[in-house]
Amino acid sequence: MGFPYTRMRRLRVSAGMRRLVSGVRLSASDFVVPLFVCPGTNVKEPIASMAGCYHFSVDRVVEEAKSIAALGIPAVLLFGLAEHKDALGSEAWSDGSAVCRAAAAIKRAEPELVVMTDVCLCAYTDHGHCGLLKDGRVDNDATLEKLAETAVAHARAGADVVAPSDMMDGRVLWIRRALDEAGLTETAILSYAAKFASAFYGPFRDAAGSAPGQGDRKSYQMDPACAHQAMREIALDIDEGADMVMVKPALAYLDILRQAKDRFDVPLAAYQVSGEYMMVHAAAERGLCDLRQTMLETLLAVKRAGADVIITYFAKDAAAIVNRLAAGKG
Ligand code: PBG
Repeated sequence: MGFPYTRMRRLRVSAGMRRLVSGVRLSASDFVVPLFVCPGTNVKEPIASMAGCYHFSVDRVVEEAKSIAALGIPAVLLFGLAEHKDALGSEAWSDGSAVCRAAAAIKRAEPELVVMTDVCLCAYTDHGHCGLLKDGRVDNDATLEKLAETAVAHARAGADVVAPSDMMDGRVLWIRRALDEAGLTETAILSYAAKFASAFYGPFRDAAGSAPGQGDRKSYQMDPACAHQAMREIALDIDEGADMVMVKPALAYLDILRQAKDRFDVPLAAYQVSGEYMMVHAAAERGLCDLRQTMLETLLAVKRAGADVIITYFAKDAAAIVNRLAAGKG
């Protein structure tokens, strides 16, 4: 029954027909908005390396959270900028950190909005690595205590989900135990389980002030050439108590997303990182492709590959567009 009886184009003749048969559909509920919170008051400062993104002080991030919730987006992911850096990154687990204060303020203003926090030391250490250094190397086991303390501080402040992004071995177990011991049994863990040592983090490191002073992150983040380790990393994190797992970056790792989706029964998140986001912006700015169409196509690809949750700097723009489409307003 090939051509001429079968004509694939019948199902593409109109916008209505295409909408009817499309398998994957984006919705505002798919998205998480990353937010950068900084010390100070009345700050809403554009981030030079990331178009349309801002550093917010705690007082100003609340209005942003409200506009995110109003779009039907269910969650935000908080990153903090340090007031003070030291060798240990001790501001990370301070109750007075911008992240802790922002988590509390957002939960007060928008109780239904899920507040996730990035748990890592890199924005707080003076050397810029994600863990404590010993003889110039990142000391895995010494770092675990500090990550656990950080997660507990965030959860106590009101975070619903803590998201360790450091890639130390054993951190999910350490964090789960510390949360439970503190009575924070309902705080969920989203682990950055398969996080690759990627060049796509460049714009973010400018935004968060978290670039390593010396060396790189290749001794803890994964080798982009190594697919089989990704499945082991995810399996281990689920075993240690991760409620949700993440693949990061997204677009260059769609194969990993698909494998993870087929293999594991926990919610799967994908992080469309700063470099992926800025690549689309840069191309659109040069007139090489349409910003809106390209944005939607990348997000569709990530969802089609298997992501249940998409963390993206495009979240607000994309939600506004898909909300209009869902209302039949093109
Ligand atoms: C911190 C962290 C990074 C990102 C999220 N958490 C940077 C890194 O690992 O160097 C990158 C996010 C992005 O590029 O948008 N460990």
